[in-house]
Amino acid sequence: MDIKLVEQALRSVQHPVKEIDVVTLGMVEDIKIEEGKVRFKLVFPSPDALSSSIKKSCEEAVRKAFPNEEFKISIMELVRERKIQKRQTVALGQEALAGVRHIVAIASGKGGVGKSTVAVNLAIALAKAGFRVGLSDADVYGPSVPKMTDTEFEHPQVDDSSGKEMIIPIEKYGVKWMSIGYFSKPDQPLIWRGPMASNALKQMILQVQWGELDFLLIDLPPGTGDIHISLVQDIPLSGAIVVSTPQPVALADVEKGINMFRSKSIDKPILGLVENMSWFTPEELPQNRYYIFGKDGCAIMAKKFNVPLLGQIPLIQSIRESGDEGEPIALLDREDGKSFHKLAEKLIAILE
Ligand SMILES: Nc1ncnc2c1ncn2[C@@H]1O[C@H](COP(=O)(O)OP(=O)(O)OP(=O)(O)O)[C@@H](O)[C@H]1O
Ligand SMILES: [Mg+2]
Repeated sequence: MDIKLVEQALRSVQHPVKEIDVVTLGMVEDIKIEEGKVRFKLVFPSPDALSSSIKKSCEEAVRKAFPNEEFKISIMELVRERKIQKRQTVALGQEALAGVRHIVAIASGKGGVGKSTVAVNLAIALAKAGFRVGLSDADVYGPSVPKMTDTEFEHPQVDDSSGKEMIIPIEKYGVKWMSIGYFSKPDQPLIWRGPMASNALKQMILQVQWGELDFLLIDLPPGTGDIHISLVQDIPLSGAIVVSTPQPVALADVEKGINMFRSKSIDKPILGLVENMSWFTPEELPQNRYYIFGKDGCAIMAKKFNVPLLGQIPLIQSIRESGDEGEPIALLDREDGKSFHKLAEKLIAILE
């Protein structure tokens, strides 16, 4: 028995309402093993009617993990409101992020899995939940945020009153948007080479007047190349969300994505996986589910890598259409946009 194994056992205990395990939620603290006794603290951010049942589940999970050992378990339950931490000190060059509380990268190994769709809808869902949100479209090769938000013809202003040129983001749908697409003509492809792409991308994050934000989402370009590594090393990320379809070829790349964030030189937490295009539901048969790309692929990956599965987003024609029309589905209070609001709730539960 060791602390890591106890922690692992506790990862099987989910908060019944938040549907996220207690370790990911940051509720488990100070695991100690001494003289036949396992102790730890179970911290609730606010009084929770479910606390005794969660405590009981924790006890059962630890017992189940060590069936052949004799030990006592002591769990100290406490309520501690989480202080909202603001970045107190910021590194040189990161001043634009001083007022930003959580920076979340939306990544994928493979292209075309719906990363931008998830990022844009998640940003809108978080804003609708009352948070201050920004999104930086860091896909220098194929920026899609301007099209998806119908802001293609906007030209961001530059403010140099502080002595440094800062780009003012475009505000729409309650979100501050920034994209390299605002600096090129919509029908012109962008051609960048390594260091140039990397710098342009950092500018889209570090040279923007974000102001005070609760969440800044970064829509990363697909892949796990040098650009990604250089970017994620230079930005104080809270963590990453990895998007994939349940298809085996996409899942193989998820593994690369997870390994990149977990590598020694980056070492940023994976907040969870999002499975997109989980099943197809035709408009006229809303109860039917067709598992076109396979079933539960991301759930299996999530288990394998010990990370939460934050959500499953169905393949629905209206999600595609609303994105193409520049009015993402999460704006509307409709059944087919619900999965994005649920995803936002989970992210809030983890980070707030
Ligand atoms: N759940 C969904 N239901 C229907 N269509 C979807 C869904 N998710 C994404 N799409 C559509 O699939 C296409 C690709 O999605 P998107 O551009 O978000 O992927 P991406 O991973 O950001 O791609 P890229 O690698 O090019 O950046 C888009 O046309 C989008 O509208
Ligand atoms: Mg994209």
